[in-house]
Amino acid sequence: MNMNHKNNIQSSIRNPLITFINGQLTGADVVHQVKTLIELNGIFEDQTMFEKMNGSQIAYEVDVWCPVENGTEGGLFFGLTHLYPGQVGNEYFMTKGHFHAVENRAEYYWGIEGEGILLLMDKDRNTRAERMSPGSLHYIPGFTAHRVVNTRAGMLRFGACWPADAGYNYDIIMNEGFSKRIKNIDNVPSLI
Ligand code: F6R
Ligand code: MN
Repeated sequence: MNMNHKNNIQSSIRNPLITFINGQLTGADVVHQVKTLIELNGIFEDQTMFEKMNGSQIAYEVDVWCPVENGTEGGLFFGLTHLYPGQVGNEYFMTKGHFHAVENRAEYYWGIEGEGILLLMDKDRNTRAERMSPGSLHYIPGFTAHRVVNTRAGMLRFGACWPADAGYNYDIIMNEGFSKRIKNIDNVPSLI
């Protein structure tokens, strides 16, 4: 094989645009979002305790890769959430939680590092909980609100993959919450 031919073959094989190694998502198109505690105002039960806390501390960070434009039917987005450890009163740090704006859109979550609980609530406000740990895989059906709670002292990292046209509806959860909470009762995460 002559050198030109060999170079052509090699140059037709691209390097990956994004890498997902050791719980980190890296690449030019990855968007990094930071959510501080103050942005979660209203989701914790103990508001008095919440107001005593440092609102500028980070509650979670999200890395998102959107290979297609937001709203593209048939496209997929990929995300990595880094949820910090902490408590507000006896309630653990957690994500805001949402339904999708296009309500029937489903999603996968999977545990990468740390331990926690995925709360799932259907439109009738029935809430169920799944343990999340490295390797756990969670199918979130359509019409189901989802929130992750970090129940341990270390970081909780989880992956997500969802339709590019799913969007977010945060209002229902902001206004009405989930019908159940995860609380630290005598050092045991309990669904209440
Ligand atoms: C996307 C998705 C996740 C969350 C992320 C942060 O549909 O479910 O990427 O957006 O874990 O949680 P929220 O969006 O509830 O603040
Ligand atoms: Mn979602």
